[in-house]
Amino acid sequence: LPSKIYGDRRPNSQGFNLHSGHQLQAFLSERDKFAKHQWRAGSLVEGQLLFDQHTAKTIHSPFDRANEVGLVSQTTPLQLQQAFAAAEQAYPSWDKLNIKERANCLRKTAELMEQNFAEFIALCQFEAGKTIQDSIDEIREAVDFCYYYANQAEVRLGEVRSFEDYAGQSCSSAYQGRGIFACISPWNFPMAIFTGQIVAALVTGNAVIAKAAPQTSLIATRTIELMHQAGVPVAIVQLVTGGADIGQQLTSDPRIAGVAFTGSTATAQAIHRSLAEREQLPVPLIAETGGQNAMIVDSSALPEQVIKDVLRSAFASAGQRCSALRVLCIQEDVADIIIKQLAGAMKELNIGNPLDVTTDIGPVIDEVAVNKLQTYQQQLRSHGKVIFECPLSQSRGLFVAPSAYEIESFSELKDEQFGPILHVIRYPAKGLETLITQINQLGFGLTLGIHSRIEHRFCHIARQAQVGNCYINRDQVGASVGSQPFGGRGLSGTGPKAGGPHYLYRFSQRITVPVTT
Ligand code: ALA
Repeated sequence: LPSKIYGDRRPNSQGFNLHSGHQLQAFLSERDKFAKHQWRAGSLVEGQLLFDQHTAKTIHSPFDRANEVGLVSQTTPLQLQQAFAAAEQAYPSWDKLNIKERANCLRKTAELMEQNFAEFIALCQFEAGKTIQDSIDEIREAVDFCYYYANQAEVRLGEVRSFEDYAGQSCSSAYQGRGIFACISPWNFPMAIFTGQIVAALVTGNAVIAKAAPQTSLIATRTIELMHQAGVPVAIVQLVTGGADIGQQLTSDPRIAGVAFTGSTATAQAIHRSLAEREQLPVPLIAETGGQNAMIVDSSALPEQVIKDVLRSAFASAGQRCSALRVLCIQEDVADIIIKQLAGAMKELNIGNPLDVTTDIGPVIDEVAVNKLQTYQQQLRSHGKVIFECPLSQSRGLFVAPSAYEIESFSELKDEQFGPILHVIRYPAKGLETLITQINQLGFGLTLGIHSRIEHRFCHIARQAQVGNCYINRDQVGASVGSQPFGGRGLSGTGPKAGGPHYLYRFSQRITVPVTT
């Protein structure tokens, strides 16, 4: 088996490092048992899959449009009302449970994910078009979220604080849930982000109505089923399926006590407006949105390391990560050599069927993405300088050529392009401060990569950068739960950071009560 699939990703605390080809082959033959499986998704209301043949849409694999993966029926307004009624009724007793009992449901969910690993690899590949490595990372991250938030809840929220008796009355305080949380997640991390949002809301004592991305409702449905199997009451975590309409009905409902959203900046802004228009006071909106992420490479950087990290940051997951590198900024003294090496390395990329272990880059998610990205590539071809466009040999799937273009200035950048398209800009040795200002002026603030071996320089850049996650001399995607809390600022998100110690507080509220003697 090719060595590249072993990668240099974070060590996996849950035991999914595939060190031997034998172990990988075993997983893949398990996966292949699901090759003809037809999954079903739809509203999960009080544990019942309300599947309606009339609204059902067929899901096709992104890498082979002839391949049918399953059927997804759409949630009706009535079903959403049923979900709210059930959640309202079930919420108080879930919130009153001991934190340990809720945390144990998360740990059990993680165990079940591990036990159903092969099915989730199949789902990540067939429904979302992910490569094998991305599918493994996806499941591992979902598992990590479960364990991390379970542990954090016990450590941080289990604490009952006492306050001094300055005013003649001693008080103590404890954490409670807020009520019903809406969790709205994207298709690019259909299991990891989906799980992370939901389990954070659950462990803090909330009921959840989750909306799956329309492209990945099958993975979502199976994930919620495991949560029920793990002991989360069926009315405490429910699922709705469909597009923007049902999302809008969900977030505008006055019974919502908070929204966790990952997706576009425009949708986050629309949710914010809708929450602001309610008669009630505002409730928390935890939004993770897009980025226009840069990497700064100075003349002291190691070119081989730069190329490896650029390839992963810009093209892994077909560039469909909010954290992905979009603008590579190279000091002009070394730009020619790095650009030449980049083109050479791109030539070696394997684009194709993600089921194949030798594939580096799979398809994009749907036809809308293909059209948008290809139209943009067309514009760049006429305005910028083509560095390299990977040739495509696949005709049956939704493939977009990983490509790199040199542009003159930041003013040529348009909206975030959510795919394998890299812009390259040269900057003069004396232009570093201007460059940092230009990057900050983009308004987004998610990830920044720095490649430099001059310590005071990379420390200076990191201090000046208005981003959420800064990476030095490595790639800039794949934040690790617990050690790299993830989330941006500005147009990129509200915080708090996912996979970090403060995330759970935003899902909670505190109650102060007098201590009676
Ligand atoms: N958390 C994901 C990453 O870091 C988005 O790539």
